[in-house]
Amino acid sequence: MPQSLTDPSDPKLAKGEARCPGPSPADIIARDSATGIDTPDALKAQNYSFLGDSDLPFSRYTSQEFFDEEFDKLWPRTWQWACREEHIPNPGDYYVYDIGPNSIVLTRTAAGDIKAYANSCPHRGMAFFNPGETGSGKQFFRCPFHGMSWELDGSLREIPCRWDFPHIVDDEFTLSEVRSDVWGGFVFINLDDNAEPLADFLEVLPEHFAHQPLENRYVAMHTEKVLPGNWKMCMEGFLEAFHVLATHPEGLRSSGWANTQYDIFGKNVTRFLQNLSSGNPHYGRNLSEQELFEGIGYAGQTLPDGMTARDAHAAALRESKGAAMGVDFSAVSNSVMLDSIEYHLFPNACFFPGIVIPLIYRFRPLTVDTCIHEIMLLQPVPDNGVRPPPAEKISLGIDDSYTTVDGFALAFVLDQDTENFERQRAGMKAARKPGQTLGNYQEARIRRFHLTLDEYLQKQ
Ligand code: FES
Ligand SMILES: [Fe+2]
Repeated sequence: MPQSLTDPSDPKLAKGEARCPGPSPADIIARDSATGIDTPDALKAQNYSFLGDSDLPFSRYTSQEFFDEEFDKLWPRTWQWACREEHIPNPGDYYVYDIGPNSIVLTRTAAGDIKAYANSCPHRGMAFFNPGETGSGKQFFRCPFHGMSWELDGSLREIPCRWDFPHIVDDEFTLSEVRSDVWGGFVFINLDDNAEPLADFLEVLPEHFAHQPLENRYVAMHTEKVLPGNWKMCMEGFLEAFHVLATHPEGLRSSGWANTQYDIFGKNVTRFLQNLSSGNPHYGRNLSEQELFEGIGYAGQTLPDGMTARDAHAAALRESKGAAMGVDFSAVSNSVMLDSIEYHLFPNACFFPGIVIPLIYRFRPLTVDTCIHEIMLLQPVPDNGVRPPPAEKISLGIDDSYTTVDGFALAFVLDQDTENFERQRAGMKAARKPGQTLGNYQEARIRRFHLTLDEYLQKQ
């Protein structure tokens, strides 16, 4: 097996250049070519640069003032996905997206266009819908307070007692439109009319997801859970694989967790690429490929000649998942089939192009000390083109386990992750040290995120 041996103590290494000894994802992906299936170029790309090593103040997570500043300067100015296109497939469907005090109604007009409006009546400010409300069949929006109504395209429809409002100019008394755009089947909104276009904000994402377009996926599972921690603290628990050692020890046998690749593609987009089912050079003793094969679910079976455990596992999943999902995976590489490949889009969303790990995350602040974590499983639409309807959202309380969600194979892992947060929140408050100390490589995505956040907070 090729080895990327880099001696971390080498004095010639600049900061951030040290890597864990052992095969890197690039080595493992190069070895995958033996399958004859191409790995997408996006997964061969690498992009890291050192971004600093100063401590990051805990007050960024614990201070009410900092939290309030995010609501002043971050959330009203950044792109964020609000719903999937498939949540509003037909004219008159609607979906309410809430971010702090801001509430936005997404809908589809009679002409089939997606529109976003402030969830607030132009008359006296009544919210048209409750937070998080969804529905269908609206011919128009009628305010429940005094009955004024607007067409789905935002134009004024009717004012009861029109004689009392001679000062209203119909063309101006429209619903307040919010910018919206679509990528990968996600409907994004931005409350800032002067923000850059979504296509620019997304940086490499469209190019990197061209091999697994997320618009060709459907929502197979959707959960929403309150977490006991600041939204950034909880989100950052999912931006590195360093914690696998202590938090997910059952993964140590088969995953080179410390060899995970981290990429900083721009201010808004970062990635980790963690090989799974490829063995772990730090397991304590070298497992043979046969032992690894048995350890990843094939107990008592013999590894086919000439195959690695990773090759054999991917081949088996192409068959079994392909049959179960009605999708031909014969041209899908080992890495896309198996690996944990997570892209983070500033500020609060993660997208995984993988097949076995097809996760979507979104983190939204609730209070300085709590947040809402949504998870979707986005599975490929079957080859017959029949898109299953999006799964209903399941709400979990702060103490509820993901194991209560039917068929969620990653429930146990997610429980391990979320069980950390109450203690981390407490420890951040108990700290006698002003800030957290990040690893230069494995935690670089967290630093990149905070640098971008600062750019928003420093703008007037
Ligand atoms: S507040 Fe909406 S009609 Fe009066
Ligand atoms: Fe984790």
